[in-house]
Amino acid sequence: MTISELKQEFIKHYGGREDDIRVFMSPGRVNLIGEHTDYCGGFVFPAAITMGTYIAARKTNDGLIKMRATDLPDYVEADITKLDDYKHLKWGNYQIGVAVELQKRGYTIVPCELLFDDTIPHGGGLSSSAAIEVATALTFATFSNEANGITEPVNMIEMALCGQGSENNYCGVNCGIMDQFASAMGKKDHVIFLDCKKLEDYKLVPLKMDGYKIVISNTNKKRSLADSKYNERRAETEEGFSELKAALPNATCLGDISLEEFEANKHLIKRDIVRQRVTHVIAEDDRVLKSIEALQNGDILEFGRLINASGDSLRDLYEVTGKELDTLVSEARKVDGTIGSRMTGAGFGGCTMSIVREDAVEAFIEQVGKAYNEIIGYPASFYVDDIGDGGHEVK
Ligand code: GLA
Repeated sequence: MTISELKQEFIKHYGGREDDIRVFMSPGRVNLIGEHTDYCGGFVFPAAITMGTYIAARKTNDGLIKMRATDLPDYVEADITKLDDYKHLKWGNYQIGVAVELQKRGYTIVPCELLFDDTIPHGGGLSSSAAIEVATALTFATFSNEANGITEPVNMIEMALCGQGSENNYCGVNCGIMDQFASAMGKKDHVIFLDCKKLEDYKLVPLKMDGYKIVISNTNKKRSLADSKYNERRAETEEGFSELKAALPNATCLGDISLEEFEANKHLIKRDIVRQRVTHVIAEDDRVLKSIEALQNGDILEFGRLINASGDSLRDLYEVTGKELDTLVSEARKVDGTIGSRMTGAGFGGCTMSIVREDAVEAFIEQVGKAYNEIIGYPASFYVDDIGDGGHEVK
């Protein structure tokens, strides 16, 4: 849907004229490497994609947040003085959770009418929820700043934190900061190197992959229980950290522990499964640093090897893949021209990312698509998306 179509659709639902409708956008993300490390205070290396959430928005004065989406029948009307009452919503809870987080930080929630338009597949592992949260946070914060005469630009790192806060405190998902950060802070043609302990120190690394493309493959698997398994993994890493801390009192999180320190102390972790999870996190952190080095040296083949090693570790040690993701990855790696392939995001379904030689992309989609359909019984989807900008108002 174009921006002008979105505004027309808005008027169909809410009436009025076009000139007081604003449009805000925030993207999804693809994580290149550094998976299941963010909530351990580790390193991640994500980029914003160009697909995301668009919000057409208008301020009102009736004390309500009104919300609809272009592709859902749902309509939500939330009373701004009772925002804690909407946790049960199937659609709309992320957004109300964001409003609650903003209120905690002193923002004024201005009543408004909102129409959401997502150009990103829902629940597909490309952070459609972070895109919704950050776009919503940006909309509310812009209106709040205007109401309070604040002229500085909205603090986008704070918007990312409000998005994460909504998931953690309102929606019951213990996610880390990566998705919301990438959605808020992404920059066209750049990848974000983020040490999740020090958000302000993030670095934008130009993505130079001459002759190669990032191909995203979507399992189209309906995810169930993904949130509870995600929370379980996080608890396992916390268990492992508390045992290692006995010998490493200065460490504040797994991200503070080097590969050498881990090797010397891993016997302190009692449960095998927990040691296995922590092994993934510590080695993955190291792979992020090596990947950046490889990219800076123009060594795309080494980057591909690191991507494969990350994927194998997520499958074998962290155990967050499953038949659908494993099939996509193993079929992708068979294609002449693929230099690396792995799951991206939380796992348990969702998407993979592959680095593919430009001239092999068409054959990749054809070959992997055919094999996946034969093995799994329904089709995968493929996207060759560009790296886009983080959250912004569309003028
Ligand atoms: C999900 C979470 C992120 C991160 C990834 C795994 O996308 O929202 O915080 O933990 O999984 O790397």
